[in-house]
Amino acid sequence: MRIIKNSQQMRSYSLKQKARGRTVGFVPTMGALHQGHLSLVEAARKGADLVVVSIFVNPLQFGPREDLTRYPKNLGRDKKLLQDRKVDVLFLPTAGDLYPKGFSSFVEVEGLSNKMCGRSRPDHFRGVTTVVAKLFNIVCPDTAFFGQKDFQQLVIIQRMAKDLGLPVKIIGLPIVREPDGLAMSSRNKYLNSRQRKAAAVLYRSLLRAREMVESGERAPRKVLRQVRSIIMAEPLAKLDYALILDPKTLEPVKRIRGRVLTALAANVGRARLIDNLLIQAK
Ligand code: PAJ
Repeated sequence: MRIIKNSQQMRSYSLKQKARGRTVGFVPTMGALHQGHLSLVEAARKGADLVVVSIFVNPLQFGPREDLTRYPKNLGRDKKLLQDRKVDVLFLPTAGDLYPKGFSSFVEVEGLSNKMCGRSRPDHFRGVTTVVAKLFNIVCPDTAFFGQKDFQQLVIIQRMAKDLGLPVKIIGLPIVREPDGLAMSSRNKYLNSRQRKAAAVLYRSLLRAREMVESGERAPRKVLRQVRSIIMAEPLAKLDYALILDPKTLEPVKRIRGRVLTALAANVGRARLIDNLLIQAK
């Protein structure tokens, strides 16, 4: 596995490979890798000739009181996991390289970025779209892989690629979960054992939502009342939002029809956790 730390070198390597007719698959990450990340890497390995994974904890997407400085890191372990999955290039840009002195240009997807997580994390998605646009320009991927765990992020990046005419295909892949249903996340490392157990309440509440819809409930208010009360019954969890949305527009639905997204965010201890479930009304 080649390790590249400089964005010019990354770009010229990718372009050289593409000139030889090889396709480039790209998985952007912030490291502290788990099976969720690795499922994207495995999909990239199957779908492209050259697989590039980036690890960069992007300061632009963290708010002033968020966890930028204590975000989990384990580069040695990450390298080994990626090597084992036959990744071709690990791209490790520095903040100085991506955001040199005087940097003042941003990519913003309006509307989609200020709802859901955007309400409590005002500049978060602007930071995500700016770094992802930069990474796309550097890596020049044919295909890029994102997890549905960050469903809002995936929809925003798809919109950015479409609106700006970026020549990259965005693929969204299913959420990988722990045996008790908790969505895998680098931030799960913040949980102590009591909090870790309590965190399973998020997925339990989503399963209850699915059960209600499958037995014919069509009123989002009634489903959400149950979801909220399940989460509020867990003293270690503090709910931020629970919503039932159109998965394309992320707008709340008035009535449950076709496929809907039930999405939620909650704090457990010092970890902000998000989860969602696509539910099909029969
Ligand atoms: P990070 O949280 O490291 O996640 C990297 C990718 O892994 C994202 O596409 C995310 O949706 C996916 N992922 C995380 N947990 C997952 C799970 N349990 N199942 C499936 N996929 C999962 O998301 C980011 O980093 C950053 O915002 C980034 C896009 C790299 C920009 O900085």
